[in-house]
Amino acid sequence: MIFVTGGAGYIGSHACVELINAGLDVTVFDNFCNSQPDVLTRVARITGKAPTLVQGDIRDSAALEAALRASGARAVIHFAGLKAVGESVQNPLAYYDNNVLGTLRLLQAMTKCDVKTLVFSSSATVYGDPQRLPLTEDHPLSATNPYGQSKLVIEEMLRDLHRSDPAWRISILRYFNPVGAHTSGLIGEDPQGTPNNLLPYVAQVAAGRRAFLNVWGNDYDTPDGTGVRDYIHVVDLALGHLKALQRLALHAECRAINLGTGVGYSVLGMLRAFEQASGKPVPYQVAPRRAGDIAACYADPSLALSLLGWRAERDLTAMCTDAWRWQSSEKG
Ligand code: NAD
Ligand code: WQD
Repeated sequence: MIFVTGGAGYIGSHACVELINAGLDVTVFDNFCNSQPDVLTRVARITGKAPTLVQGDIRDSAALEAALRASGARAVIHFAGLKAVGESVQNPLAYYDNNVLGTLRLLQAMTKCDVKTLVFSSSATVYGDPQRLPLTEDHPLSATNPYGQSKLVIEEMLRDLHRSDPAWRISILRYFNPVGAHTSGLIGEDPQGTPNNLLPYVAQVAAGRRAFLNVWGNDYDTPDGTGVRDYIHVVDLALGHLKALQRLALHAECRAINLGTGVGYSVLGMLRAFEQASGKPVPYQVAPRRAGDIAACYADPSLALSLLGWRAERDLTAMCTDAWRWQSSEKG
């Protein structure tokens, strides 16, 4: 049994599918602050098996501990958290509360239940403005906004915890830019309001829901002047969590591992790939740089390959085709 916080969310729901497909039982603990309960019905439609659902907030220690104990889980995958960079600048305390305090409460509940295996959702944002590319895990860490700072604090908390008790088994997965959706078209990213991230915005333009994409700057030091990122298919990302669990079964360690493809694509490159996959035009206009953005960011994913035997298999066409299928479905 695997206990999955935030399992109804974008990445968590895809992870649930892969966990269940691998024959594992799953308990999802989610407060639905950024997801809908029917996602789990969809996970059941894909896999033929529903995860157990407990609705609750990770900051509610009593509810969390009770759910973890009742699940009988021996490992936790921790997706629950807030993730909007701009919102974190406006309301930093919400991010320290939900992300940092929430994780602290989770670690306390795990300690009480003697569950010491954890896979944590970190982010490439902890590398700050890259000093060198591709990014290796030993690159200096920094944060440029409260969201990133919350991930950094949690990473430090996990390293301190492991130092104090080496029986803990912790995998800190640093995701690059997750995109795409499950090939069934039943689950995907479902942003509320105006999407912050590039691909959901592009998908809504292609669908005619928005008139054009704002390209935030075309004067970066990149091949076409637009920002370059390491986009990774969410199903590849989900599979990385299974591999991390498999490694933790054999190693008591606390390690940070990049999950990316190692390849960077520009904003205009993504736009063209999405036009190809969808057969729809994606009009755009160049707008000023977005505050806090960096020119380029992509992973060195070789540690994931050597430690986990994992590498991203799905290419840009699959990312865009699957995102478009989801966008074109009744939900997307
Ligand atoms: P998401 O918002 O789709 O999923 C998060 C889930 O956690 C949601 O279902 C939400 O309802 C739940 N949740 C939030 N706070 C909670 C709380 N206090 N108690 C219980 N449930 C709570 O986000 P996602 O894109 O699936 O991201 C999952 C994790 O991966 C997050 O920790 C995020 O910071 C991290 N991450 C995401 C990205 C990305 O671009 N999507 C990149 C790097 C890291
Ligand atoms: C990608 C590129 C934009 C929207 C963010 C978080 C990061 C991580 C992933 C959680 C950039 C450009 C975007 C638009 C644009 N999340 N863009 N027009 O900024 O790399 O990372 O999400 O951990 O922490 O910071 O992703 O998808 O927002 O932007 O031109 O409408 O697309 O400038 O170059 P980003 P993104």
